[in-house]
Amino acid sequence: MGWNLKKGKTAIIVGAQWGDEGKGKIVDVLSENFSIVARYAGGHNAGHTVIINNKKFILQLVPCGVLRSGCRSVIGNGVVLDPMAFLKEVAALRDAGVKVDGTISVSNRAHVILPYHRMIELAAENAPGRVKIGTTSRGIGPAYEDKMGRRGLRVADLLDLKLLKTHIENACREKNMIAHALFNSEPLDADKMYHEYADAAEKISPFVCDTAVLLNQALVNGESIVFEGAQGTMLDIDHGTYPFVTSSSATSGGAVTGTGVAPTAIDLVIGVTKAYCTRVGGGPFPSEVEGPNGDLLRARGNEYGAVTGRPRRCGWLDLPLLRYAGMINGISWLVVTKLDVLDELPEIPVCVGYKIDGKRMGTIPAQDSGYRKIECIYKNWPGWRTSTLGITSMDKLPKPAREYLAFVERESGARIGMVSTGPGREQTIFVDEFLIWLNGAAGKGRQAKARVQ
Ligand code: IMP
Repeated sequence: MGWNLKKGKTAIIVGAQWGDEGKGKIVDVLSENFSIVARYAGGHNAGHTVIINNKKFILQLVPCGVLRSGCRSVIGNGVVLDPMAFLKEVAALRDAGVKVDGTISVSNRAHVILPYHRMIELAAENAPGRVKIGTTSRGIGPAYEDKMGRRGLRVADLLDLKLLKTHIENACREKNMIAHALFNSEPLDADKMYHEYADAAEKISPFVCDTAVLLNQALVNGESIVFEGAQGTMLDIDHGTYPFVTSSSATSGGAVTGTGVAPTAIDLVIGVTKAYCTRVGGGPFPSEVEGPNGDLLRARGNEYGAVTGRPRRCGWLDLPLLRYAGMINGISWLVVTKLDVLDELPEIPVCVGYKIDGKRMGTIPAQDSGYRKIECIYKNWPGWRTSTLGITSMDKLPKPAREYLAFVERESGARIGMVSTGPGREQTIFVDEFLIWLNGAAGKGRQAKARVQ
């Protein structure tokens, strides 16, 4: 295989806010034109809701491409895999009649989440004096800590039962001591854990391979790949609102390290933003709006976490944040989701700039304390007060909605390629130029079916 003989097209889909931008639906729609969808970061903390023929699917680990026949799914090395959660999701998909065998591949280099990761996370989150992040309690952070600390267990090691036994015995001894000393937690039983995970290893084994080789070979063969980001830019471990972030590289750079496909093989980055903004968990959120407008966005947008069911904090679109996401990820196409949620508002405020201590800020503060001092400068847009639900072409949108989108496009520095006007696959507007690229992206053996509306 010549690694530099790539023929297939590639695109990274990245969240431009704090996650929950609606990437699931977008990846699902785009998967029609791609051969493979590859997840590159996070774990079962993510929750992608996809509605197909009025049937709701919540995917946590398995990439959204699994719901599209003929599209293969890859869980890359940058993901932290909870074997039990993976097997549960696979079983639910099988029960729903979705083809999983032979279509899902799991990286042998992905790290494994074990019960002690959850135990330590739960205890630490509730310990006095700790900054409460408001995590999803899935053991994500502690699993990445072990990865970076070079004491993690990888999927390849999970399949090696002798190694698994030694690893679990040693890790349990150490984690039980730490958890008891720091948090007075009950110890976990290493022997029981080994038997449960040895059983899971056998079930997972048919899915496991070297996914970096699989992906690079696919590109050489002319197949196209879409890289599916989890969470969003502002939850990225390096570029987000640290420490109120997740523990992985949620930005586009993570797609490279998290799959083993080189930066030179990436054609473009598609950023997904809601027409407003939400965040779940703790941490700064400059354009947050409480009271009746916040409640209206939450109710109309059904803003409750797909994984934890927690109500999401809601606010107005934040353009400085969107520009920052554009810069960090290299976004060239923007997808705006949930436009219809704004339909009833007489006026739509948009944050166009930040002030700190009365001074306009051109950059995003690095420190949490700086973030919390931000005052948003708002511009009010006239609302359209008519339904945009399910509209499929730009020229059918009410004029103020088109103007709102044109303003977002100008200010964000990226072209709008798609607008989502409802949860269903068909409730989507495609912009002609984006569609031309998309049709050109269709890999060998795949038919581009998206139409210019
Ligand atoms: P963790 O990823 O469970 O460690 O949680 C860290 C932070 O990221 C918390 O504020 C979570 O609410 C947030 N978070 C993690 N995954 C998602 C997601 O898929 N959508 C939105 N927020 C998330």
